Amino acid sequence: MNKGSKLYEGKAKIIYETKDKNLVIQHFKDDATAFNNLKKANVEGKGVLNNRISEFIYTNLSQCGIKTHLIRRLNMREQLIRKAEIFPIEFIVRNIATGSLTKRLGISEGTILENPLLEYCYKKDELNDPLISKEHIYSFGWATKNELEIIDKTSLRINDLLTGMFRAVGIKLVDFKIEYGKAWNKDTEKSEIVLADEISPDTCRLWDAKTEKKLDKDRFRKDLGNIVQAYQEVAKRLGIMPEETNISEVNFGKTIPIKFKKK
Ligand code: TMP
Ligand code: ASP
Repeated sequence: MNKGSKLYEGKAKIIYETKDKNLVIQHFKDDATAFNNLKKANVEGKGVLNNRISEFIYTNLSQCGIKTHLIRRLNMREQLIRKAEIFPIEFIVRNIATGSLTKRLGISEGTILENPLLEYCYKKDELNDPLISKEHIYSFGWATKNELEIIDKTSLRINDLLTGMFRAVGIKLVDFKIEYGKAWNKDTEKSEIVLADEISPDTCRLWDAKTEKKLDKDRFRKDLGNIVQAYQEVAKRLGIMPEETNISEVNFGKTIPIKFKKK
């Protein structure tokens, strides 16, 4: 698939045109940012890991009936995806209280939520992606009631599937952020809602089930170090990286070269 011109560059990814107007290429960069770009770094290998981890998750979700934008992974850093008109909303699902929820409402860190909590943020960097309600979404036409019903249901289903997937490999899915878009379906000749963007340790909070060690971007946000080693640990546990990549569960130690199993 030939890469055309750049359509959009975000903080962690770049989108390129292809010859097919309904398909684009999603390129994963090594750039890490936090606090709306206030903190920046280049984390060597992160893009490669997120590409593989996100591909693995989207493929599994798709096998369980979730519609996604992913067509296939093209190489170490790129995926061929369906072009989607992204809803200007970040959809957050929380199972355990941490991060902005604890800061905003004074809920104790680590509180297990009786039911998954859905939150919506308006995707607007200039405003720091503020928390919004359903009423804001309807008032400003960011999604219809029907679209939001589909998205909420899908998000809770994704939470169930991912919670199980991670629990099976000794990881607690604490919370995550997802994005959706509308993509053209050639068969039905209608647009449909698809899971877009990525799901990776950049967009989830993942804690080791036994030690609660952070295996996600909080290592970058909180200056905990060993970011790539944590992402590699997630890839290894999901069975994407070969067993011989022996990263200690407790001590992340030295950097390990990134090798992946053949598909
Ligand atoms: P928060 O506690 O900072 O609101 O984050 C909730 C979840 O959303 C957490 O898994 C991290 C993820 N997230 C992103 O993917 N992108 C963002 O810009 C922010 C703020 C959070
Ligand atoms: N992605 C956001 C940023 O680039 C914030 C975050 O993930 O913490 O600033």
